Amino acid sequence: MQQLLEQAIRYAKPFLEQGKLADYIPALLRANPQHLGVSITTMDGKQHSAGDTDEPFSIQSISKILSLIYVLNERGKEKVLEKVGVEPSGNPFYSLVQLEYESGKPRNPLINAGAIAITGLMAGNSAQEKSAGLIQFLNNIVDESDYKINQEIYRSEFETSHRNRAVGYFMKHFGMIDGEVEAAVDAYFQQCSIEMTCAQLSRLSLFFAGGGTDPISHKKVTDPENVKWVHALMAMCGLYDASGEFACTVGLPGKSGVGGGIVAIVPGKMSISVFGPALDGKGNSIGGLKILEFLSRELRLSLF
Ligand code: DON
Repeated sequence: MQQLLEQAIRYAKPFLEQGKLADYIPALLRANPQHLGVSITTMDGKQHSAGDTDEPFSIQSISKILSLIYVLNERGKEKVLEKVGVEPSGNPFYSLVQLEYESGKPRNPLINAGAIAITGLMAGNSAQEKSAGLIQFLNNIVDESDYKINQEIYRSEFETSHRNRAVGYFMKHFGMIDGEVEAAVDAYFQQCSIEMTCAQLSRLSLFFAGGGTDPISHKKVTDPENVKWVHALMAMCGLYDASGEFACTVGLPGKSGVGGGIVAIVPGKMSISVFGPALDGKGNSIGGLKILEFLSRELRLSLF
């Protein structure tokens, strides 16, 4: 396995030249575009890593699958479905167009609009209360974890993300945001700025492979039914307007973030996490995608 991961890094490295750091959140420009790493955690708790897997990065949109599980646990599926749909959007993650002709209801919880509707449903009136609840939920999953918000990245997005605020206020008009828009949007920025290493992300997301229960600590994180829904959403919408291609080339439920992370789940077997901040034109890690394609091919991981 170790050799295979190193081979995957060597295969993917040349593609980094074609990628670019995310620049619309200014602090993300501080990342090193040459970083590339992969970690696999299997159901027995063994972890294999190659490359830059101890570099912390902000999980960005990968947080959307974690906040969704948290809110599904707290509020239940019926409530969630009042505010968001479960259909692929086929549009970029930041898009506003569909929202207008679909009466402010986001297509799914993995686009920005849907994730902001989800933070609206989180317990707490302020952004601090909402994000503290989410972080506490995450810290309970893996013993001795202590996830933190990268304050520089958080401030940077808070100060520049006018489009996400517009999305929030637009949805509020249609009743899709519970509570204050500013609290929901701010909590969304905070969850996107949670920092992890590639190795930590792979370990944390192992409960997805375990059908809602962490196979190492045996803690029940969520119901198998919630994991089924989130896996289906990841397969359909986890990489936005690149989700179809990802299904064809990798064939696993996956979720990407503009910090350069991608997590992919092999149900019942393992959780794979990749990190490479050089992104392709759709905002997905260019090297990370190549690593996942390589591993899916070599290990025959595709579910399709
Ligand atoms: O809202 C944003 O634009 C970022 N905080 C997160 C976007 C993101 O990670 C999209 N994923 N590829």
